[in-house]
Amino acid sequence: MEEIVIREATENDAEQLIEYTKIIGGETDNLTYGAEGLPITVEQEKGFLQKISEDKHSVFYCAWKDSVLAGTANLGGMPRRMSHRAELGISVLKSEWNNGIGTELMKHIIDYAKENGIEIINLEVRSDNSAAIHLYEKFGFKKTGTIPAFFKIIDEYADFDIMSLDLR
Ligand SMILES: CC(C)(COP(=O)(O)OP(=O)(O)OC[C@H]1O[C@@H](n2cnc3c(N)ncnc32)[C@H](O)[C@@H]1OP(=O)(O)O)[C@@H](O)C(=O)NCCC(=O)NCCS
Repeated sequence: MEEIVIREATENDAEQLIEYTKIIGGETDNLTYGAEGLPITVEQEKGFLQKISEDKHSVFYCAWKDSVLAGTANLGGMPRRMSHRAELGISVLKSEWNNGIGTELMKHIIDYAKENGIEIINLEVRSDNSAAIHLYEKFGFKKTGTIPAFFKIIDEYADFDIMSLDLR
């Protein structure tokens, strides 16, 4: 693997992150958005990253290959009686799949969770997303259920698995 640098996102990454979501959104049907990306301005993205940096149970990592944003992984902390849990999201540019970037991002996420008192990491993954499920199982995630028709893309439905990693 060429050298990949993983670091926490800052407000300065906002513009590139918005562009990244458009690229990755057009490369996979596994995410909540397509090639249109997320309906968010650079200012809103900066605010989102600022909030994450202030929350002990949230983190946003970027994987950089030189100046190219090659992947991201984030934990979103939950409020109140769910504050022991955080939700995971992860993606890597298609041109970089199977080069170990997802694995490196997962290591960072799990280390962060352990160091910051997150007890359970939850995620939802398309039931036919074998690569992601393989990655999650490699790190000890277990399937706890299925949500039928979680996505509807045009007129096609996709079921999702619920998975969690119990760090208690
Ligand atoms: C899931 C994703 C993040 C993995 O990133 P990555 O950088 O390719 O991950 P890695 O290279 O570290 O690991 C991929 C693993 O999956 C395995 N794999 C690849 N395709 C597979 C398949 N069809 N079935 C099973 N395993 C598969 C690889 O062999 C590798 O396993 P290993 O680590 O035991 O050798 C990436 O595929 C991606 O961004 N997909 C689109 C977005 C997405 O699905 N995100 C998850 C939403 S829940």
